[in-house]
Amino acid sequence: MKILLTGSTGYIGRRLKQLLLKDENLQIRLLVRNKNRFPPQTNKNIEIIEGDTLDKESLINALKDIDIAYYLVHSLNSKDYKNLDKQSAQNFIDACEINNVKRVIYLGGLGVKDENTSLHLLSRIETGEVLSSSKKVQTIWIRAGVIIGSGSTSFEIIRNLTEKLPIMTTPKWVFTKAQPIAVSDVLKYLIESISISESKNLIVDIGSEQLSYKDMMLKTAKVLGLKRVIIPLPFLSINLSSYWLNLFTPVPFTVAKALIEGLKSEVIIQNDNAKKYFPNIKPIDYECAVSKAIDEIQKNQVFSRWSDNAGTIWDKDHTKQIADAIFIDRKIADISNIDKDKVYKSFMGIGGENGWFNYDFLWEIRGVFDKLIGGYGLKRGRRHPQNLRIGESLDFWKVVDIKTNERLLLYAQMKVPGDAWLEFKIENNNLIQSAYFYPKGVFGRLYWYALVPIHYFVFNDMIKSIISKSKNL
Ligand SMILES: NC(=O)c1ccc[n+]([C@@H]2O[C@H](COP(=O)([O-])OP(=O)(O)OC[C@H]3O[C@@H](n4cnc5c(N)ncnc54)[C@H](OP(=O)(O)O)[C@@H]3O)[C@@H](O)[C@H]2O)c1
Repeated sequence: MKILLTGSTGYIGRRLKQLLLKDENLQIRLLVRNKNRFPPQTNKNIEIIEGDTLDKESLINALKDIDIAYYLVHSLNSKDYKNLDKQSAQNFIDACEINNVKRVIYLGGLGVKDENTSLHLLSRIETGEVLSSSKKVQTIWIRAGVIIGSGSTSFEIIRNLTEKLPIMTTPKWVFTKAQPIAVSDVLKYLIESISISESKNLIVDIGSEQLSYKDMMLKTAKVLGLKRVIIPLPFLSINLSSYWLNLFTPVPFTVAKALIEGLKSEVIIQNDNAKKYFPNIKPIDYECAVSKAIDEIQKNQVFSRWSDNAGTIWDKDHTKQIADAIFIDRKIADISNIDKDKVYKSFMGIGGENGWFNYDFLWEIRGVFDKLIGGYGLKRGRRHPQNLRIGESLDFWKVVDIKTNERLLLYAQMKVPGDAWLEFKIENNNLIQSAYFYPKGVFGRLYWYALVPIHYFVFNDMIKSIISKSKNL
């Protein structure tokens, strides 16, 4: 059987890909926007194809000979996500019809359409409706609410708030009911959807026990061994609450706002199709799901994170833009006496819990400032202490390029008046560290000049520290 998996660089898709690969009877084709996101594959059951769900021709090509296609895509990173998502779903189902695909499996959000429905959920519902509109292709539309797993948005928000705030003042929506579900259970439904014998369209609502967000935070505190007090306040507005989430959790203001808007509506199961069509799956309860997630975090086994998708960074031609950068701070160090792979390992360990080699307090201040103006700050950290993957986040950076034993290129996602990159490159017997900046207008230029003295200390020290750390590896 031939399966097309979209969204394989995302939170759910990356995990699903690993599970699908365990079944040797399945031929998996991944549709990705940038092939470099995965190293060359040795497994003969996997094929990677470049495409974009907003480009119908590429979908027609990607869906050739496919029996079952997973749709795990959304455009939340773009301002116009509602229209883009609708277009993307329409392109997808049209291309499925052209290729006689038998079944589409879509994971959407739980919840109903009413006056409180958030724009984000409306868009997920609309996507499901478009995908289910075909007379020729069957769609299994799985709907999940709060997904609990290491690195999931909802869990990271709940965990960060619970860990950081002994006393929490929250909006009244903390009493809204939801039915959270462990990511491992979501994956079970997605996998079993391949083999169920039903041929009509299905909407399958999934979840574990009903809990309010307050219950979830208190249960998370219990698993973490913490005592927490939650004081709901009736007057906290959406904007104020989103700002609060932005400050205390890794999510930026825009994501926080989309999520807070969703908290007004209950996200509970509307049908019993999960029990009817998937009787063997018994979702684990909330506390078990939290324990599993925390265990993975503690053992550095986080497989994917909410911030892994590349979003709009591929719209930029980094090579060309770097070549056009107006400001460059370059440092070069001789590494002829050191193992190149140790130097590489040293700079690949940058950021997150490992710190930024020196002057961490300056990076922290920049992170706090970024958070204050609605950015990512440093809270996203690193997924893994040693490994990095192209496309994943690293504090307020995105990993744009990795060439083993040669190069690491980071693109700044902090709020900055222009485009900024940080590059580490091993060339001949040198380590070349370059900070590039392409300013936007006068303010961009002033920003760079204001930072020149700080850069002088930070970057001089950084290259020295990379070298000295590599000598000790
Ligand atoms: N995560 C949750 O907590 C949760 C909860 C309930 C439901 N869901 C549903 O599960 C599905 C997957 O969510 P997720 O959290 O895994 O998303 P995610 O981590 O944000 O990943 C989104 C994926 O979509 C890809 N993508 C976006 N636009 C694309 C385009 N135009 N063409 C091709 N690929 C594109 C991204 O690729 P790039 O890497 O190139 O950007 C990425 O692989 C969504 O439908 C979501 O509504 C998720």
